[in-house]
Amino acid sequence: TTLSFDTSKLDTFVDANELTMLQPMVTLADDMLRTGTGAGAAYTDWINLPTEYDRTEFARIQSAAKQIQSNSEVLVVIGIGGSYLGARAAIDFLNDYFSSAYSSEQRTAPQVVFAGNNISGQYLNSLIKLIGDRDFSVNVISKSGTTTEPAIAFRVFKQMLETKYGVTGAKARIYATTDAQKGALKTLADEEGYEEFVVPDGVGGRFSVLTAVGLLPIAVAGGDIDQLMAGAAAAQVAYSDSDLQNNAAYQYAAYRNALYRKGYTTELLINYEPTLVQFGEWWKQLQGESEGKDGKGIFPATGNFSTDLHSFGQYIQEGRRNLFETLVRVTEPVSDVIIPTTDADDGLAYLQGEKMSYVNRMASDGTLLAHVDGGVPNMVVEIEKQDAFHLGYLIYFFEIAVGISGYLNGVNPFNQPGVEAYKRNMFGLLGKPGYEELTEQLRARL
Ligand code: PA5
Repeated sequence: TTLSFDTSKLDTFVDANELTMLQPMVTLADDMLRTGTGAGAAYTDWINLPTEYDRTEFARIQSAAKQIQSNSEVLVVIGIGGSYLGARAAIDFLNDYFSSAYSSEQRTAPQVVFAGNNISGQYLNSLIKLIGDRDFSVNVISKSGTTTEPAIAFRVFKQMLETKYGVTGAKARIYATTDAQKGALKTLADEEGYEEFVVPDGVGGRFSVLTAVGLLPIAVAGGDIDQLMAGAAAAQVAYSDSDLQNNAAYQYAAYRNALYRKGYTTELLINYEPTLVQFGEWWKQLQGESEGKDGKGIFPATGNFSTDLHSFGQYIQEGRRNLFETLVRVTEPVSDVIIPTTDADDGLAYLQGEKMSYVNRMASDGTLLAHVDGGVPNMVVEIEKQDAFHLGYLIYFFEIAVGISGYLNGVNPFNQPGVEAYKRNMFGLLGKPGYEELTEQLRARL
């Protein structure tokens, strides 16, 4: 199986009966999602995206990736939130953990680096230093085309490109991924003649990894985007049945809902592979922005194990009992290490000759049982391999689940009104024209 979903360790927390009782609501949520009658329906085009995407643009993405690979050692991806988390997660998932730090000789594809996801001058300076005098291109990504963080970073890199390659040379190295019609970035891209890619209207930022937003950076880093889409398309078929018995993604949504009703209000997405850490960051946005509203929602957090077992593992085992965990693991390790044989008495004789993947697996099984015994419900999402096909499948699993889960909890999973509050205050404090009154109010409060 491409993906298996194991809830066998949930039985002390959720009765089978509870899931059965949720079926009518799941059926309704499925209907709302698929017939476009639920809240936020205008932003559900991601449902059929794996099979209904723009093939012509897809081919352009592949040629742009080739072009960047041929003339750049570095690609700077400028974007924030849904405009970078997916690409970053996928690139980490599909490549050697340290590949971004490899030297030019070790590297098989350009180094992909990320900017515009914070407002730190220190970060930007360090990134500029990292690029050094190497050839680079820029993919600026913003659906609205008006987000401050990427806009600032883009100004800086645009200027750098112009200094290095001249105004015309710079234009040929800038790829803009934005709305088909509107926004400051769209206007600029049209005026300057950058190669443009589209964030489809019906796909919100956190659901956009399988559009040009994710696909171009992933392809530049050497990821197989055909396989990524194929995996998502397979999941689209696999998770289309509204019957809980036949739909693991819907089961995941329903179990989360059952747990939430009992006071399990924080979910930790657990991994045992550093290359999956960024996947957790992508998932946090998907869950948090989709569900955290109207005064409710499961708080999404991550656990990077076994690292974090030595930090907040204590809390998970014995702290406040409002946590549950979803372990994401891969059956076949990408590579392995055999624990060396030695005469030295370091207490590891019983493990010599064993594979590290075996030890890691036992760590995850042992932890899972310990946490369950400690009162932390656990579910396991397991994919067979860590490759592009399985990643596409996994992405779709979580996307479709959050759609159902949001409706089950009575929220619009496709808006994010709360993201605006900090922006307004920031604009007020920065004295942006049009915010004069707010500027005065906020300054008085500081
Ligand atoms: O999911 C979302 O809507 C947000 O996180 C956006 O992705 C983020 O704010 C970036 O927006 P934009 O792509 O418009 O610059």
